Order: sequence, then structure tokens, then C-alpha cells
Amino acid sequence: MTETLTHFIGGKQISAPGALESLNPSNTGEVIAKFPDGGAEDVNKAVEAARTAFPGWAGATPETRADVLDKIGSLIIERKDALGKLLASEEGKTLPEATGETVRAGRIFKYFAGEALRRHGQNLDSIRPGVEIQTYREAVGVYGMITPWNFPIAIPAWKMAPALAFGNTVVLKPANPTPATAHALMSIIHEAGVPAGVANLVLGRGVVGDALSKHPDVNGISFTGSQTVGAKVALAAVSRQARVQMEMGGKNPLVVLDDADLKTAVECAVNGAFFSTGQRCTASSRLIVTKGIHDKFVGAVVERLKNLKVDNALKQGTEIGPVVDKNQLNQDLLYIEEAKKEGGRLAFGGHLLKRDTDGFYLEPALFTDTVNSMRINREEVFGPVASVVMVKDYDEALAVANDTPFGLSSGIVTTSLKHASHYRKNAQAGMVMVNLPTAGVDYHVPFGGRKGSSYGPREQGRYAVEFFTTVKTSYVLA
Ligand code: UN1
Repeated sequence: MTETLTHFIGGKQISAPGALESLNPSNTGEVIAKFPDGGAEDVNKAVEAARTAFPGWAGATPETRADVLDKIGSLIIERKDALGKLLASEEGKTLPEATGETVRAGRIFKYFAGEALRRHGQNLDSIRPGVEIQTYREAVGVYGMITPWNFPIAIPAWKMAPALAFGNTVVLKPANPTPATAHALMSIIHEAGVPAGVANLVLGRGVVGDALSKHPDVNGISFTGSQTVGAKVALAAVSRQARVQMEMGGKNPLVVLDDADLKTAVECAVNGAFFSTGQRCTASSRLIVTKGIHDKFVGAVVERLKNLKVDNALKQGTEIGPVVDKNQLNQDLLYIEEAKKEGGRLAFGGHLLKRDTDGFYLEPALFTDTVNSMRINREEVFGPVASVVMVKDYDEALAVANDTPFGLSSGIVTTSLKHASHYRKNAQAGMVMVNLPTAGVDYHVPFGGRKGSSYGPREQGRYAVEFFTTVKTSYVLA
């Protein structure tokens, strides 16, 4: 059934002609939602509503904010099946992945309900006798959030929950392939009793994000998406001294050493590279394998890939859903062709698949015989495509792993404590995983990277307070 979506501005659902559509990538004949093609005027209204609501929300007691956030979390978790189904239908990840992401979003709101109550200030001794010093963390104002389609409920949750917990107001601009999921989340936020104007939603194309990043009354932008768009958003926001928090992808290495447990290595590689259709900024797209285990590892990964079930996201037993849309599918296919031209050997997959319903089904692709300087190993594909780079030993593996413009997540599979601890210290990434996939992170700890992957303060966990508050230092002579 096709839903008709609205903006949420100042607590009201604002209808506009449903000029745009989101489709089910597992069954492209099915329109999931029709939604408005919003513009700068809608952004102006939403920002004004958020600005008006700010003093009341910032001045509310922490308990008031905590209660609302906790309720949002409970409602999301209560409705995980329906929300998960909507998410899987709209984004194309499998039903268990989509339901899992939904619960994660609920948990994020509950975690930040607790953070709202925590005292984040300090009492400090002065260097002057009789003087007392206190630091406070105060809310900043209005935040714009520009979110991607690949985690259409968890990422809006992990940006909005801390913003709201610390007393800010928000305007959300979700990605176009997944507006219905964002809309469902916004409905729950309102149902839970967030005051009018505290959380706003403007649907539409890139012009909406552009207007948000340029708006003089938006104090900060939290963005997750591509480097190209991220650079434009950051430039516009920073040039008017707004805060920015940017997450812009990865080319994450998974090192597999000769002493690795083969089963663990295969599980980490297949999960990290191909689950969620490889559409994660944390995906393990470079598999860096030492030569003693190389052939065994490649053989075992190919065996596993042969048995992976690529099908309709809603079908029971599907392990990999379709690619999100035609544009992304074309990008994946271009990189597959490019990798072949560069001399990579397609050890498995890379073909379009036919299923009962028309959808963007792509067989997971594994390249071997690649070198790290090839485009397939430099640029983010954002699809079910991974490549193997063979190296002679640990030292070369570490050097190759770090030789990338990105630095989000970095993994190693080994039974050597020495190599594991050396890698944890020397991997140039914001997150390091030992004997675990590079993707799949906890919701209560910091998330973010280095180099071209991230810019600005960390997301999630106790570090989120940095971006969403401003510090005041007060001196008192008693
Ligand atoms: C995960 O790996 O669990 O857009 C989360 C992304 C990341 C989130 C990854 N910001 O893929």
C-alpha cells in the first residue's frame, strides 16, 4: 500500500503534492510512498519553528526530556515488527536486519534518555583563594540533520536523540530512497509528546539539505553521506561558523593473517563485506590476506558466497537483499567493470540476478589478484563488492591497511596476541575490530573515523555531548 507522506513543521503535518516516490527495491512495481518535493521555503518555516521551540525545550527539566526520549524508545521497540517491515520494504535490507536496526534505534533513544539526566558539568578548584569554578554544558540551538538511506531509522535516531536529550531542537532531512521510515519515526516522536517545533521533518531533494546547511539560524549540521556532498555541506556550514559533524564513508580493511581461525575469518569477511548488501560505510571492502592462508581463505569465502541467499528482503531465509536503487546498482556495476579492466580476477559473482519479483538483485562480487593502488581499492563502492589483496606478512598487511584516504573502521583476524595488540595501536582508523567484522557497532560507544572518513566531533555514546552542547565556565567569589 502506498503511503502519502507530509513534512512535520511546528508540530503539524504539512501536506504538499506527492511529487516524489520511494520504491520497493525488492519489487520495483511497488511504490512505498509518495512525498513532497520540499524547498528552501519549507526549510525556512521548519527552522523558524525549531528556533521558536528552542528556549522552552532547552529550559525543560532534564527529567522531562528523559521521559519523552524513553517513551520514543519504548514505542519504537513495541512496533519493531511493523517498522522493520517498512524499513526492509523501502531500503531492501533483510527483515531480520531491518528489525534489528529498529530495535537499535529504540535503544539509542533510551540510552540518551539516561544521558539527559547525567550531570555533564564539573566543579573545579580555582587558583585564587575563595573562588569557586563550575562548568556547565548548555544547549546550542537548532541542528540540521542530513541522513542517508542505508540506516534509515538508526542514523536519524543517533543524531536526533542526543540533540534532543541536551535541549536542542532539530530539522531532519532524510535521504530520498527512504522517506517513509523517517516519517514513521517522526510520527512516533510526536506521539511520545515532544512539544511542537522541537523536531521537524522536511522531505525533498538535495536543495533541502543545501538550504539547511546555509541557513543562518541553524547552529550545527550533522551529516552522514558521501564525501562529495559532505564537502559542500561542510563548506557552507563552516563558512558561517556553524558546527559540523560529518561521517563520509570508508574503504575499510580486514586483515587476515596466516594464524587466523579460518571459520572466523570467513564469517567476518562475508558479514562485513556483503551483509546489508555491502551498503555500510563500515563495510569490509578490502580483504588483505597473507599468502600462507590466501588460497584456503579465498576458496572458503567463494564456497560461502555460492550458498548465500540473495532474494526479496521480506522473504524468510534471505541473507542479502537487493541494492537500494537503480543509481546505486549502476555505480556497483561500473566498479565491477572497472576492477576487471584494472586486472582484478572476478573469483565469484558480480551478475544481475532474476527473482520472482523485479528488483535490483546483484550477486555478491569477490575480486582476487588486486593491488591496493587500483580504483577498486581506493574508492568506496557502497555495494556487495569486495577485493582481496595478497601480502607477504603482517608488516605489509598493516601498511596496506593504512594506505587509504579513509579511516573509519579497520579489522584483523588473528590468534596472535602480539599482532592483535600491535594492530589495535597502529591501525589508522577511528574503530578497530579484532576477530570481528568491521561493520556492526554498539550504540552506546563513540562512532567515527579519521582522515577522509570523518570531520568534527564523534557521534554516539558519552562523546555525543561535545557536539550538542556548549560549555560555560562560571567563577564565583563566595
Ligand atoms: C554499523 O556498521 O553498524 O552509514 C553502522 C553507515 C554508518 C553506520 C554503520 N554510519 O554505514
